Parts: sequence; C-alpha cells; structure tokens
Amino acid sequence: MIRCENLVKIYKSEETEVLALQGLDLNVADGEMVCVVGNSGSGKSTLLNMLGGIDKPSAGRLFVDGKDIVRFSNTELIEYKRETVGFVWQNKSRNLIPYMSARQNVELPMILAGKGDPARARELLDMVGLSGHYNSKLAQLSGGEQQRVAIAIALANRPKLLLADEPTGAVDTATAKQIMEVLRRANEETGVTVVIVTHDMKLANQMGRVIAIRDGRTSSEFIMKNGIAMPEFGTQNKEETHDEVIVVDKVGRLQLPGEILEKFGFSGETRVVVSAEEDRIVLTPYKN
Ligand SMILES: Nc1ncnc2c1ncn2[C@@H]1O[C@H](COP(=O)(O)OP(=O)(O)O)[C@@H](O)[C@H]1O
Ligand SMILES: [Mg+2]
Repeated sequence: MIRCENLVKIYKSEETEVLALQGLDLNVADGEMVCVVGNSGSGKSTLLNMLGGIDKPSAGRLFVDGKDIVRFSNTELIEYKRETVGFVWQNKSRNLIPYMSARQNVELPMILAGKGDPARARELLDMVGLSGHYNSKLAQLSGGEQQRVAIAIALANRPKLLLADEPTGAVDTATAKQIMEVLRRANEETGVTVVIVTHDMKLANQMGRVIAIRDGRTSSEFIMKNGIAMPEFGTQNKEETHDEVIVVDKVGRLQLPGEILEKFGFSGETRVVVSAEEDRIVLTPYKN
C-alpha cells in the first residue's frame, strides 16, 4: 500500500531550512496496521502529510496504492484525498463540526462526495462504539468519543489508507487504549490499511508492527513478540552495512547523525577541520 524510498523533506523559509525527513524508507503492506513512533520533532506529522497528499516531498519516491502520488496533478490529488485516504488529525477541531450531530458529521464527507448515506453513517458509529450517540451534538461528547467520531468520519468514503496523527494525544491512558482498539477493529473489519503516528512508546507497544522514526529517518523496526517490542531479526546487521545518506543544503549546511556525534564525542559546538580530497569531503575533529 505504501512505498517510501529515500524520502526527503526540507522546509524552507527566508532564514532557515529545516530537514524534517532525511532519507526515510518505509514499506507498508495492503491491510496492515503499523505504528510509527518517535519524539516530538522527529518528522512524524511531516511523513503523514506526505502520505496524505497534503504536502510534497523535496526528494525521494513515494507510492501509495501503486501510484506515484508525487507526480499527481491537482485534480488527481483532490480525488486521492477524497477517495483513497482518510485522515484523523492531531487537532480535533480539524476533524469535527461542533454544532452538528455525530451522525451528520459522519455523513457530511459522503454528501460532499455525492453519496449521502445515513444508514452507513449509523453503521460506522456502531463500529466505533457510539450506537447510543447518533444524535448527540459533538459538544455533548467526551474527548474520547469525539475522537471516535473522527475515526468514523475518516472511514466514511471507504478509504484504502487511514492515517492517524497522535489520535490519542489529548486523552487519558484508558481512553487511549479504547481508541487504539477502535482503530484495530476498523482495520480488521474493513481491511483498511492503517498508519498511526505517536510519541507514546507504551501505546505503540499495543500494536503489531512498530517503526521507530528519529531525525526524519526510520531508524529501526520492531515487531511484537510476547507483548514485548523486540528489534526485528536481522535489522541490526542490515543497518550497519547501510550507507548513511544525509542532505547538504544549498548554502552548505549538513546535519550529522547522532551516532556519529556520539562516537566522536561531539557535545555543544565542536570545531572540525574540513578538507576536500579527490572524491570525498573529510571532517576531522579539531584539536588545539
Ligand atoms: N511548516 C513547517 N515549516 C518549517 N518547519 C517545519 C514545518 N513543519 C514541521 N517543521 C519542522 O520539521 C521537523 C519535524 O516536524 P514534525 O513532522 O511536525 O514532527 P513530529 O510530528 O514528529 O513532532 C521539526 O523540526 C519541525 O519544527
Ligand atoms: Mg506531529
């Protein structure tokens, strides 16, 4: 369903350039449910925006459902966003219309796509465990319930891919578990491929497949074994022999990977001597 190859995203403003994704690789099979876990600022939302067709990568390749979505025309993108992906946003107000009922909120995307279907809206609310709340106004629902409505909305037009950005960001642990359960049920019952991003490792541990993202790169992959996240067999060796690719921006700045900083004892500002050899640039820690 998803194939990202060496995905790079640079946010440019007049003053700065932020390297939000630096050569990210990710494969997700059709019907899979995966969790991408990483600290704040590691590039999770950036990745979801690329997958959702909301923003374009600066470099790299990105295929969703076999299609090169980077090359989509505007019309194709609009269609893609309406038909192929469903989004559960981090910011609740982006998902929901407060003065409408739960059922109206879920039916709205269907109406906008020319396929209004009140019965389906009710079915979706049943699936997310809100059978008793068809006619509740959003304001009458708890945070967790609102987030379940948001999941039903995202599923309204039968997307192939459901993207959820910190869907449990604003709720307590018990509610977070319920929301994850709802997403799991959606995955099992409808076969929709689900990608959830979160900074919460404990939450990620409830999932089958967990991918860690660090500094805009998927650093290691874990699969659940007996309830404990374990490094996937063989990943370690693969990574050791893998070339690190980083980006040098147009004014010559680069960001060295944390492992290298650690290995050479860089902390705070450290000077290096730069020398150009025939086919390589060498950075040598400067010693007075
Ligand atoms: N629109 C933007 N303009 C400039 N920098 C951005 C923008 N969006 C995100 N960033 C930066 O990109 C990096 C990754 O951000 P983000 O994808 O939001 O991380 P996460 O969702 O993991 O917290 C951060 O350093 C962030 O400050
Ligand atoms: Mg984010």
